[in-house]
Amino acid sequence: YQVPLPQNEPVLNYAPGSPERESVKKALAEMRATQIEVPMYIGSEKVFTDKKIKLSPPHDHQHILGYASEGDASHVTAAINASLAARTDWASLPWNERAAIFLKAADLLSGPYRAKINASTMLGQSKNAYQAEIDAACELIDFLRFNVAFYQEIMAEQPQSAKGIWNKSEYRPLEGFVYALTPFNFTAIAGNLPASAALMGNVCVWKPAYTQIFSAQVIMEVFREAGLPDGVINLIYVDGPLAGDIAFSHPDFAGIHFTGSTAVFQSIWKTIGQNINKYKAYPRIVGETGGKDFVIAHKSADAKAVAVGLVRGAFEFQGQKCSAASRAYIPSNLWEDVKKYMLADLAEIKMGPTEDFSNFVNAVIDEKAFDKISKYISDAKTDADVQIIAGGNFDKSEGYFIQPTVIQAKDPKYTTMCEEIFGPVLTVYVYDENKWEETLELVNTTSPYALTGAVFSQDRYAINQATAKLVDAAGNFYINDKPTGAVVGQQPFGGARASGTNDKAGSKLNLLRWVNARTIKETF
Ligand code: NAD
Ligand code: ALA
Repeated sequence: YQVPLPQNEPVLNYAPGSPERESVKKALAEMRATQIEVPMYIGSEKVFTDKKIKLSPPHDHQHILGYASEGDASHVTAAINASLAARTDWASLPWNERAAIFLKAADLLSGPYRAKINASTMLGQSKNAYQAEIDAACELIDFLRFNVAFYQEIMAEQPQSAKGIWNKSEYRPLEGFVYALTPFNFTAIAGNLPASAALMGNVCVWKPAYTQIFSAQVIMEVFREAGLPDGVINLIYVDGPLAGDIAFSHPDFAGIHFTGSTAVFQSIWKTIGQNINKYKAYPRIVGETGGKDFVIAHKSADAKAVAVGLVRGAFEFQGQKCSAASRAYIPSNLWEDVKKYMLADLAEIKMGPTEDFSNFVNAVIDEKAFDKISKYISDAKTDADVQIIAGGNFDKSEGYFIQPTVIQAKDPKYTTMCEEIFGPVLTVYVYDENKWEETLELVNTTSPYALTGAVFSQDRYAINQATAKLVDAAGNFYINDKPTGAVVGQQPFGGARASGTNDKAGSKLNLLRWVNARTIKETF
C-alpha cells in the first residue's frame, strides 16, 4: 500500500463573513447554550459518575459549559484492563488498517468536525479562532496524517540480505499498555500522544489535564466515529498523582507518552525507577516538558523584525506555549528602536473573550495559573532593579486576564529571566552591543531548559557563532524568526536538557519509541 503523500492542512483565515467564521460562531453559540455531561470512555462503556468536574471558559469563569464525570482508582484499573483486553486484536490488525482509522479521523477534523474542535478549544482553553485553527484543527490533522506516512517509511526499512540468507525487521507494538498524559495548552498534543502510540499498534490509557477535557471529548468522539475499536484508547478523568501511582506500578505498564511540566515529568521518572522490577520490559519514557525560550539579537539585526518576533513569540496564545519567547537579549544600539516598535504593536492589541474575534489576547487557563503569573508581575513592580515597560495589569473578576507584560531587568539572572512563567510575560535584558560572545554564554547558561530559541542577525558570522555556541541550548532553533510555530513535517519539535527527551513529536524518531523491533534471519 502507498499512503497518500501528506501535505500540511491549509490554515483558514476566519475573515469577517467567511464561511469558516460563520460555522465556528454557530458552534460557539450552541456550546454556550447547552450544558453537556462528559463521560469517561472505558472499553465499550461511556462511564458517568456522581463526582463532577465543572467545565468553564477561562475568560468567563462563571459560565458553565458542562460537567465531566471524575473517576477514581477503580476507573484507572478498569481502563488498564480494557486496554489489555483490546491489545491482541489491535496489535494483529495489519498496519494499514490502523492507519485508515487515523487518516479518516484527520479527514473528519478537516471537514465536519472542524468548527466543533475549534469552538471547543476557543471556549475550553480560551484561544482565539486563529490560534484554535492552528492548534486544534491543522496541527492535529497534520500529526495524524504525517504519522501514517512516517510509519510507512519505518515499515519499509529492512536490513541487507545475502545469497542464502533473508534478513527481516519487524516492528511490533510494546508488550503492555501506553499511558498518555497530556497538558492543557495544546489540543493537538493531547490528541497526538495517544494516537501516535495507538497507530503503532499499542493500546492506551489517556489522562488529559482537567482544563482540556472540553476539547478532549471532541477528539475522542472523532476517533470513535473514525472507527477506533473499543478499548484501544481509554479516556479517563482522574486525579494525576492517583492515576499515575496505579499506572506506573502495573506489571503491564509499557511506556509513558507525556507532555507537561518538567517537575511532574521528573517525579514520574523517579516513580518508574522505583517500580522498575515490576515490569516485563524497560518502559519507554518519552516526555516533552517545560521551556524558558530565548531570543537573542545581534547588533546587526533588523529592529522591526526583532520587535515583531518578540510580540508574536511572547504573547500569542497568551504566552501559554512551551515554545513562547520569555527572555530576550537585546543589544544597546537596537534597544530604543525595538522598544518603540514593540510598544506600538502592543498598543494595538486587544484583550478579551474569544467570542469577539478582534481580541488577540484571551485569558490564561485557570486561577492557579493566573495567581502564579500575576505574582511574578507584582514582585517585579516592587523591585527597584526592574522596570515594567508595558502592561502589568491583571484582573480575574470575570475571566483570568493578564495584560501582555514586558519587564526590563538590569540583572540577566533576575527571576523572570530564569524561571518558566507560562504566561504573557517577557523579560528583556539590554546588553552592551560589544559583548556579543559574553551574552551568548549567558544565554547558554542562564536556564536549565533547552526547548526553543531564536537569533536575529544580518551578519552571517554572528549567526554561525550563535548556532554553534547554542548547540545544546534549544531543540528547535530559529534564525531571524520567532521561536514558536513549528509545523509538523517541517520543523520536528522537541527540546533537550530539562525540556524533554527530544523525541520530536510528529516524526519517525517519536514513532520508533512505540515499537519493539525484531530481527529475523532465515537461512535457505
Ligand atoms: P502539568 O505537568 O501540570 O500536567 C501535565 C499532565 O500531568 C496533566 O494531565 C496533569 O493532570 C498530570 N499530572 C500533574 N501532576 C501529576 C503527578 N504528580 N503525577 C502524575 N500526573 C500528574 O502541565 P500543564 O500545566 O498541563 O502544561 C503546561 C506545561 O507543559 C508547561 O511546563 C509547558 O512548558 C509544558 N509543555 C511542553 C511542551 C513541549 O512540547 N515541550 C508542549 C506543551 C506544554
Ligand atoms: N508546536 C508549537 C510551537 O512550535 C508548540 O510553537
